Amino acid sequence: MAAKHTSIETRHYAERDALFGGLRRLDRRGFLKVSAAAFAAAAVKGIVPQSFMPIDVAGAATSGVEPFRIAYISDSHLYERHVNERFIRALLRAVDDVNHLDPQPDFVLYGGDLAQLGKPGELELGAQILKNLKAPVRMMVGEHDWFLDMGEKWRALFGQPNYSFDHKGVHVVVLNSIHEDDFWTARKMTPEQRMGTVAGLDNGIQGRFKVGDEQRVWLKKDLATVGKATPLIVFSHSPLYKYYRPWNFWTDDADEVQAILKPFNKVVVVHGHTHQMLTNRIGNIHFHGMLSTAWPWPYAPEGLPPLTVQMDRADPFNPNDALGNGVVQVRADGLVDKVYNLWNRDPVVVSSEYLSSRGTKKVPPKPNLVSF
Ligand SMILES: [Fe+2]
Ligand SMILES: [Fe+2]
Repeated sequence: MAAKHTSIETRHYAERDALFGGLRRLDRRGFLKVSAAAFAAAAVKGIVPQSFMPIDVAGAATSGVEPFRIAYISDSHLYERHVNERFIRALLRAVDDVNHLDPQPDFVLYGGDLAQLGKPGELELGAQILKNLKAPVRMMVGEHDWFLDMGEKWRALFGQPNYSFDHKGVHVVVLNSIHEDDFWTARKMTPEQRMGTVAGLDNGIQGRFKVGDEQRVWLKKDLATVGKATPLIVFSHSPLYKYYRPWNFWTDDADEVQAILKPFNKVVVVHGHTHQMLTNRIGNIHFHGMLSTAWPWPYAPEGLPPLTVQMDRADPFNPNDALGNGVVQVRADGLVDKVYNLWNRDPVVVSSEYLSSRGTKKVPPKPNLVSF
């Protein structure tokens, strides 16, 4: 019998696997498991792990917050199965990631743009996949889910797009931030044309996203009964600030919404839509972006918040690069550490201390940015 031939490529991968296996036993899931274990150990012993997941245990007695984790998945942009399977597989991968978290998150926040063109088949497919999550799912709407039928199908599947609830000492608000002024009626557009227009971020026809008068009234009313010391976590699809107008990385009434949030001591806004690692702080409000499972957007040519810990430019030869999902780790003091679980890259933690110190403490590792 002839000796088994091993190709150069096979040997290369075997050697590489052995090398990386020896260097770093922790894969991505291992990291998340270990970080959770460190988190739990710290909470019990009152110690702060040095390398990651800083825990402010001292804050527990005063804030009334019991630390917990929210997993997030966002911006999957599903087409129907016969059009594109890659984005479907990516969402399945994210669901698999979250189902492997140990312990499980208290809930999973879906960050919007589940569908690409708002079609019933796309939204139903997404709903079907998300049912496989072990933890409860809270849904947020994105513009790609909305503008074919103005949210009719989305609401039928998932309920009202704006709502709030209390969880372990934190008040959580989910907004629909993708309202737009009517640009379609005067132009006699079909629903498909309207959806197609909104789906193009820089077409110059559509308006800017906004939370809108009605919902701002609702938000004020909702927060009227919440104590100012109660930490708030607000989820919005578009960032609740003005980042880059030509791409609609922008919420037009952001200043008004921020004014409603300003009286509260601890406020965190977590948003989708921008498909990138993104960090900002305006006054007392900490902002974090969510990764997409479908594609990464490049950083805008201007207006990038200076505290942003940039992710490396995506590798054009790897369709899953710069994508991922992640965790919002709610601390005992009511602020959050944001874990970006980048597929194919090491996870990045942007801690609340980094924002509280305006970027001087707990600075996350910088990417090498060699390709820029
Ligand atoms: Fe998106
Ligand atoms: Fe979006």
